Amino acid sequence: MTTKTKLLNQLKDHTHQWVSGEELSHRLGISRTAVWKQVKNLKTEGHHILSAPKKGYRLVKMADVIIADELAATLTTNVMGRPAVRILGETDSTNLQAKVMAAEGVAEGSLVVADTQTHGRGRRGRTWHSPSGRNIYASIILRPRLSPSQAPQITLMTAVALTKMLRESTALDAKIKWPNDVMIDDKKIAGILTEISADMDAVDYVVVGFGINVNTRQSEMAEEIAPIATSIFLEKGVETSRTNLLCNLLKHFETTYDLLNNQGFGPVMEQWRSMTDIIGRRVYVDVMDSRYTGKVETVNDDGVLVLREDEGGTRHIFSGDVTRVRRR
Ligand code: BTN
Repeated sequence: MTTKTKLLNQLKDHTHQWVSGEELSHRLGISRTAVWKQVKNLKTEGHHILSAPKKGYRLVKMADVIIADELAATLTTNVMGRPAVRILGETDSTNLQAKVMAAEGVAEGSLVVADTQTHGRGRRGRTWHSPSGRNIYASIILRPRLSPSQAPQITLMTAVALTKMLRESTALDAKIKWPNDVMIDDKKIAGILTEISADMDAVDYVVVGFGINVNTRQSEMAEEIAPIATSIFLEKGVETSRTNLLCNLLKHFETTYDLLNNQGFGPVMEQWRSMTDIIGRRVYVDVMDSRYTGKVETVNDDGVLVLREDEGGTRHIFSGDVTRVRRR
């Protein structure tokens, strides 16, 4: 445990009480100047700590930061979030960092988390707006025994894990929009970006990136997404611990990944279908420059959307953006 975490724990044990610099220096075995420096670091991380001459320090409110020690202590997984873990303040994109780590050879289950991203990336080349201190931006490295053509299974499997976590941790009625957006009442709360490195017949690694809107306020959302996005805070009116959510996500991610590895993709898709309300609905699907309109017949065991087109006939769609057609 780092000195900074030990100091925070001391202050936490005496929340709302003054603890003198001398006492802290004695308990931690460091000088009073070192205590002062570490308190300064904690304040920059967003912890609300008062300092007063003769009294010492008092923790008023802890920032919701993801700290390695706390994450490790809260995790209930065997593999996910265990081998190599990098917790970053600011980074370009956790997916980019995870790809660097994967290329260096880190083991399956390695994790990158950031407080904010300067180049957060979404599907189809979009930007993932990543305000600091509010949300979860994380990427996991997998080394699945799948052929490259089966790699999209990982994305659908992740949507199942994410939806399970949101339902369990927040009691919100999260649903999946094909292929992998997680929605609350037609507003997006979380997205997944999967990137793969493979040769002709084997996957080397898959990086799965999650962006989950946890404590974002309306005013902090990018203008173009504000009307179509939501966060746990906006839905429930209370702040949620990012560490707890991330640990619960990793737990569901591990069990769903085990299901995929042990029983194949069919049972995962069965769960996926039970978490979507898109089947049987009229939609239009944008695929590159084309738009197809019709009724969703099913999403089959390969994760392919089967559309009964208004113009007649059935179309199998492998990737695209779905929008519900609402009756007026
Ligand atoms: C989407 O477009 O729905 C996918 C969004 C994925 C965003 C996450 S945030 C963590 C990881 N790093 C990135 O740059 N993107 C993903």
